Amino acid sequence: MEVEQNSNHKKEETCMENNLHHRYTLFDISKDPGLKDDEGNELPRPFTKNQMRKWLKKVRWENNKHEKRAKEKARAKERRRNARSANIDLGPSRKTLKKMKLEKPKKNIGIIIDLSFDHLMIEKDRFKVIKQILRCYSINRRSETPLKFHITSFGDKSKSDISRHNGYENWDIEYHEKPYLDVFSRDKLVYLSSESDNIIETFEEDTYYIIGGLVDHNQHKGLCHKIAVEQGIRHCQLPLNKYVNMKTRKVLTIDHVFEIVLRVCEGVSWQDTLLKVLPLRKGAHVCQSLCDSTSSEDISNQSTNGT
Ligand SMILES: C[S@@+](CC[C@H](N)C(=O)[O-])C[C@H]1O[C@@H](n2cnc3c(N)ncnc32)[C@H](O)[C@@H]1O
Repeated sequence: MEVEQNSNHKKEETCMENNLHHRYTLFDISKDPGLKDDEGNELPRPFTKNQMRKWLKKVRWENNKHEKRAKEKARAKERRRNARSANIDLGPSRKTLKKMKLEKPKKNIGIIIDLSFDHLMIEKDRFKVIKQILRCYSINRRSETPLKFHITSFGDKSKSDISRHNGYENWDIEYHEKPYLDVFSRDKLVYLSSESDNIIETFEEDTYYIIGGLVDHNQHKGLCHKIAVEQGIRHCQLPLNKYVNMKTRKVLTIDHVFEIVLRVCEGVSWQDTLLKVLPLRKGAHVCQSLCDSTSSEDISNQSTNGT
């Protein structure tokens, strides 16, 4: 009896292994010629435990992506059905949003996300950049007066990272492989940087504001400011200190900077915008000098995106 059980167990294991082997094949290691460097030497295969773990994670993600999408769609459908029966307005549908894309008047103010920093980030941080871009795109398309949204230095790594999100080519974003200096005239560009000494108060029409597409955990402090100075383009920081007191440093995530620009361009005051957009962990509250007319407010927005 015990022998039979063992043999069944072994059969199950082999079956599982076969299944795994069958499912997880992005490439066949035994047949794949591998990668070669410029001199034609074969590069070491990703055989460290860490690399294999990463590879497996990628393959699992690829294999499950359609199933995951289908589940997400079903959940969204269910949410919409429940909201309809409870008479809750969920805002415009995807179909309406797509139509709005063609009809909405755009502010003549542009935002550029500069993706020239791929080489400075590990994969995890590059994915965070893409996630933040996704959020920028999502809030921009829901705005009544969206900004012109550009991505520059859109290289191979970024393309491959963003291609995890189906249909990105159809998003209302203009992708440029070239750097911003090859696409826009220098005098229309302003680099946003927390390190700049200039403080912006209003966003000018016919101007493009650049956000650095970098998640660096403060490892490259002041890099974007340095680049702007070297390239001779204007630069400025958001007026955080003027409107709110913050517990932490003033470096914000890409999506928070984007949302602040968008809301202020929509006509929301700086103070309301900052209190709404800045995450709780930044501990922003109304400046003492502004407290005479306004009571201190809590900020309810949370974010775990990373800067
Ligand atoms: C996570 S930060 C990158 C920080 C990076 N060390 C750097 O040199 O800019 C992402 C981008 O958001 C923008 N940004 C963040 N905080 C800002 C602030 N307080 N004022 C203006 N722009 C800001 C900048 O364009 C910055 O490049």
